[in-house]
Amino acid sequence: MKIVTTLPELRAARHTLPGPIGFVPTMGYLHAGHISLVQAAKADCASVAASIFVNPTQFEPNEDLARYPRDLPRDLSLLETTGVDLVWTPSVEVMYPPGFQTWVEVEKLTRPQEGEIRPGHFRGVTTVVAKLFNTVSPDRAYFGQKDAQQAAVIRQMTKDLNFPIEIVVCPTLREADGLAMSSRNTYLNPEERQAATVLFRALTAAKVAYDSGEREAEKLRTVVRETVATEPLAKLQYVSCADYDMLEELETVRAKALLSMALYVGKTRLIDNFVIG
Ligand code: PAJ
Repeated sequence: MKIVTTLPELRAARHTLPGPIGFVPTMGYLHAGHISLVQAAKADCASVAASIFVNPTQFEPNEDLARYPRDLPRDLSLLETTGVDLVWTPSVEVMYPPGFQTWVEVEKLTRPQEGEIRPGHFRGVTTVVAKLFNTVSPDRAYFGQKDAQQAAVIRQMTKDLNFPIEIVVCPTLREADGLAMSSRNTYLNPEERQAATVLFRALTAAKVAYDSGEREAEKLRTVVRETVATEPLAKLQYVSCADYDMLEELETVRAKALLSMALYVGKTRLIDNFVIG
């Protein structure tokens, strides 16, 4: 496994890789969810590249970038064991040199849900992913359904900017009790960790209502709100029942829809979603 930190090194290493090349962008502190993306890439590509870069531009001013968990040696050993060929770990100075002033922004899809709460977030994500795509130039790139709006925004950006890259979205990996795996779960103390199962419980309750014939989106959102209200440590930030492609809030669920939510458990912000219909 080759580890590169500068652009010339990346370009040289990139040319030696047999195609098709699969690419897994990450912010590190890897867990089984990330590794499942690497495995999916390995299954359909001749070579796999991964990036580890905690992207400062996707953090809101009130979000603690410095506190984001990091463990590069452990990440590298996990990627090596999984059979990654190339790891790109640029510094902030390499990605955003002094004078940097060009941004990539997807408009409509980034406004609701996560975008409403974190207004600058997706601009940071699309800018860094566009830069990663340009520097790695993979044939396929792998993202998790865990961040459903992010996957939709990146699919739109890829199409709008004509990146010759296939976007592959992989299922959310969960702990045994249903909590979606996330680097942020490490912030939770044992009591909060237990409370955090409320996301999965709330989405499951709404899915049960949907499966029993409920099609009114507001009723499904209410099921989520009511479930979250039973958990004293959880504070709901939003619940959305939106159409799957445009992410617009629905009145009635008639086709594939995205049920998504964000909440705080203590100081930790967690998100999750289910696809219904
Ligand atoms: P990060 O949060 O490290 O996630 C990297 C990738 O792993 C994303 O595509 C995310 O959706 C996926 N992922 C996270 N948890 C998962 C889970 N439980 N199951 C399956 N996939 C999961 O998302 C980012 O980093 C950044 O925004 C990035 C795209 C790297 C741009 O900076």
